[in-house]
Amino acid sequence: MLNGVYIHIPFCLNKCAYCDFLSFKSTTVDRDEYVNALIKEIKLYPNFSYESVYFGGGTPSLLSPSQVKSILDNFNILPKGEVTLEVNPKTVDFNKFIQFKEAGINRISIGIQSFDESNLKTLGRLHSSKEGEEAYLLARKAGFKNISLDLMFSLPNQTIDNLQKDLDKLFSLHPEHFSIYSLIWEEGTEFFKKLEKGEFKETDNELEASMYELIISQAKKHGYEHYEISNFALPGKRALHNTKYWKNEEYLGLGLGASGYYKNIRYKNNLTFNDYYDKIQNGIRPILEEEFVSEKEKEIYEYILGLRIIPDGIFPKGDYIALCDSLVKNGNLIKKSQNNYCLSQRGVLIANDVFNEFI
Ligand SMILES: C[S@@+](CC[C@H](N)C(=O)[O-])C[C@H]1O[C@@H](n2cnc3c(N)ncnc32)[C@H](O)[C@@H]1O
Ligand code: SF4
Repeated sequence: MLNGVYIHIPFCLNKCAYCDFLSFKSTTVDRDEYVNALIKEIKLYPNFSYESVYFGGGTPSLLSPSQVKSILDNFNILPKGEVTLEVNPKTVDFNKFIQFKEAGINRISIGIQSFDESNLKTLGRLHSSKEGEEAYLLARKAGFKNISLDLMFSLPNQTIDNLQKDLDKLFSLHPEHFSIYSLIWEEGTEFFKKLEKGEFKETDNELEASMYELIISQAKKHGYEHYEISNFALPGKRALHNTKYWKNEEYLGLGLGASGYYKNIRYKNNLTFNDYYDKIQNGIRPILEEEFVSEKEKEIYEYILGLRIIPDGIFPKGDYIALCDSLVKNGNLIKKSQNNYCLSQRGVLIANDVFNEFI
């Protein structure tokens, strides 16, 4: 039964140099108009009971707490439901955190990226390292007991020492959860242009692997479970919402350009405000494209996404048992118990190659 919903908030104060998420400069978007359309879109779907609601972006913390509340008022959220809001440090203060909490948010995910001033500048972030840390401390002070921090590594010219400093700061703050993504050079971004011009160069594979191994070993030392390729949690603090994606469960995606998975169909919403608003005004779901997922494809998704949850792994059927056994032989998977396989330490480092074996 579908019980998760993602809500896309497609605006930011400024575009970061590396990011290709769908988002526009916030001064160009009428936020009330957008929130009203979102509320109408919610009503185009049945009234589900939700275990997780996730405001992602863009920069959802640019919404006012009352706008967040007016959206949440339309959902039936189960007791103990996880309600996450992504936050950019430049957009919050103590009162806003208090009000987000009153509006029903109970999990905060802060875009930190790095604690190093020079990295932040290169990335085009508007906040200082201190402001990143302060956002975390203010969320705590406001009473949030479930906070995740987003960081990145393998940044231009980053050294192991530089990463180590970010990790030291991260672990000193002791968030319940953190994500740390290796930088992806996305086509069309400022970063990509600089890469093409030769102003930046990609981190070499060996250094990137050493950085990733450093993150994994230090996270473990500090009591974090490495439960997904790029995600780490204190015991009992895995992200409930994101885990639904990796378990291949259905979820609604609402908002401009949002992706969803409903009634065996993976869909993507319209990408322009005109199309999105037009359809909603006419009582039509604002879907740009949809793809029916066959039983076979569903099974493959289950394996590829399921392997991402490193400690849990997958329970393959049919021909896939032999494939998993061969991946055990070459050291990329571990057979945990009868018919339960998960990524090995080596498999984690080359996870995409392992996933490709299932396609
Ligand atoms: C929607 S943003 C998070 C909230 C907010 N927009 C912010 O940046 O403060 C989601 C996360 O994706 C990661 N991300 C974005 N672009 C990336 C890229 N090109 N490579 C790796 N990670 C990226 C960043 O860590 C970012 O915090
Ligand atoms: S990283 Fe976050 S703040 Fe920066 S442009 Fe992307 S979505 Fe917006």
